[in-house]
Amino acid sequence: MNRRLGVFLLLGLFSIASAEEKFDSQLLPRPLILEYPETHEIQLKGSEDDEQQLQCTSWRFAVEANNLNPWKTVPLECAGYVKDYMTSKAYRFDLERVSMEAGSYARSLQLAGDGMDAWVFDIDETLLSNIPYYSDHGFGLEVFDSREFDKWVQNAAAPAIELSLKLYDEVLGFGFKVFLLTGRSESQRTVTVENLRNAGFRDWDKLILRALEDHGKTATLYKSEKRSEMVKEGYRILGNSGDQWSDLLGDCMSNRSFKLPNPMYYIP
Ligand SMILES: *[C@@H]1O[C@H](CO)[C@@H](O)[C@H](O)[C@H]1NC(C)=O
Repeated sequence: MNRRLGVFLLLGLFSIASAEEKFDSQLLPRPLILEYPETHEIQLKGSEDDEQQLQCTSWRFAVEANNLNPWKTVPLECAGYVKDYMTSKAYRFDLERVSMEAGSYARSLQLAGDGMDAWVFDIDETLLSNIPYYSDHGFGLEVFDSREFDKWVQNAAAPAIELSLKLYDEVLGFGFKVFLLTGRSESQRTVTVENLRNAGFRDWDKLILRALEDHGKTATLYKSEKRSEMVKEGYRILGNSGDQWSDLLGDCMSNRSFKLPNPMYYIP
């Protein structure tokens, strides 16, 4: 826009100058001068974009490292960044790395063979992807609306995160007991089971959802309590996969925790 305007103004100048005829054409701006502001602007614009990109990468790092907490929505200036991240290879590569690292850790373990070695998985943004929902809701730019989200859950249409399904099958194959521990509510059990089956998950040992008495609790407390129960029953929680720190931190933490990326929302 600016560039065109600049050229237009200069052309305007030129015609005024020609009309006056006294103007020395040697003194007219050379093409170099015409181009200078244009390149300069592009460079400036470019470095502003780079800086914004870096700021958003820095924000995402703070999110993943759990340095930033609690936060409600993606910052407006990072809306495009988060969308690009979620829909590009970047998210996929990050998922792939977590899945591979978790898989090689699982493979390295000598299980006791008594059926008491367990792996805990969260569901949303860990086994199942809600990207179809979040793509209609600004990828975390909108404040979370539980009623809207529950409508989406009722469709049982969340696709598997394929790299997590791969890990899930590996872990089962190694002989782990698999526990699914989700912040979804008990009233969503049927539809959650249906969704998990549709997405290819099978043979979990327990699916634990929030009961009525769990509703006021933070995810950290609720999940800690559920892990404590597992440990009391004699299970050894050797691995835990979740996209929220509240899936992983608290009491009876797993020997190793695997944090999946999620720059779209934060659950305390
Ligand atoms: C898991 O952690 C517990 C407690 O720190 C430890 O006793 C146990 O050896 C660990 N198990 C494995 C397989 O690393």
